[in-house]
Amino acid sequence: MSAIDCVDTIAEVRAGLDAARSRGASIGFVPTMGALHEGHLALIREARDRDDVVVVSIFVNPTQFNAAEDLAKYPRDLDRDLALAAEAGADLVFAPQVAEMYPPGATTWVDVEGLTEGLCGAARPGHFRGVCTVVTKLFNIVGPDRAYFGEKDAQQLAVIKRMVRDLDMRLEIVPCPTVRETDGLAMSSRNVRLTPEARAQAPLLYRALTEALVAVENGERDAVRLKAGICGVLADADLARIDYVEVVDAETLQPVVSVDRPVLIAVAVFFGDVRLIDNVTVGV
Ligand code: PAF
Repeated sequence: MSAIDCVDTIAEVRAGLDAARSRGASIGFVPTMGALHEGHLALIREARDRDDVVVVSIFVNPTQFNAAEDLAKYPRDLDRDLALAAEAGADLVFAPQVAEMYPPGATTWVDVEGLTEGLCGAARPGHFRGVCTVVTKLFNIVGPDRAYFGEKDAQQLAVIKRMVRDLDMRLEIVPCPTVRETDGLAMSSRNVRLTPEARAQAPLLYRALTEALVAVENGERDAVRLKAGICGVLADADLARIDYVEVVDAETLQPVVSVDRPVLIAVAVFFGDVRLIDNVTVGV
C-alpha cells in the first residue's frame, strides 16, 4: 500500500484541507476516473509545480456513461493508482463510492448548452451533463484554486471553461498538453482495451491530424478538403470506423467552412467497441 492519504467521504476531504486553506496554501486539483497513465501523471506534476497542496479524485462517474456495459468495463485498480499518484506528487486522494457522490434523491444537474451538442456530445447524449455535474460537485467539495485538465479531451475542456465562466466559479482552469506514446497515439485509459491489431493501427489518428496541420501550414483553408484528407489517411486503418472528423471554431465548437480563425480539428474513431478521440488546434 502507498503512504498517500486516501479518503472516501466529503467530510474527510473538507477536514483534511481546512488547515491548509486557513494557512493560505493554494490547492491544485486533478479530477480523474482512475486507471492513471502518463497523461494524468503530467497533470499531477503540473499541479505539484504550481500549487502547495495537490488533491486527486478517483471516481468512475456513472452519470457520464451512456452504456452500463462501458461503465462495467472501465478499468479499476485503486492500489496501483494511489502508488502512481503519490509518486507524481499528490498529497491527498479522494476516492468516494457512488452513494457518497449521488445520495438517494439527488436530482440536480449542471447542463452547459450549445457547446455540448456536437462532436462527442452528438454520439453520447447526457455525457457532458454527467461530467459537468460531477465536476461541479468535486469543485464544491475540494474548493481548489486551480484545476488541471488535459487538452486531449478538448470538448470537455471547452465545456468546463464555459461552465466556470458562466457560473462564476472561483478557480482557474489550467489546460495541459496531450501526452503521447512514442508512435503518436494519445494516452488514454481506453488504449489497454485495444487488440494488438487495432493498437498497431491507432497511431494513424495522430498521423492524419498532423498531415492536416501540414496542409494548413501549406495554405489549405477549406474544411471539406481537410476532412477528406484525414478520412483518406484513416482509410489505411481497416479496423477503424469513423465516428466524426470535424473542423470547428476553437471556442464555440461550431463547424467552420474555412480555417479563417483559431480552429480545433477533432476526430473520434472506433476500433471495435473502443472509441478513441484526438485533436489538434490551429492558431492561424
Ligand atoms: O476526464 C475525465 O476523466 C472525467 O470526465 C472527469 C473530468 C474526471 C469527470 O468524471
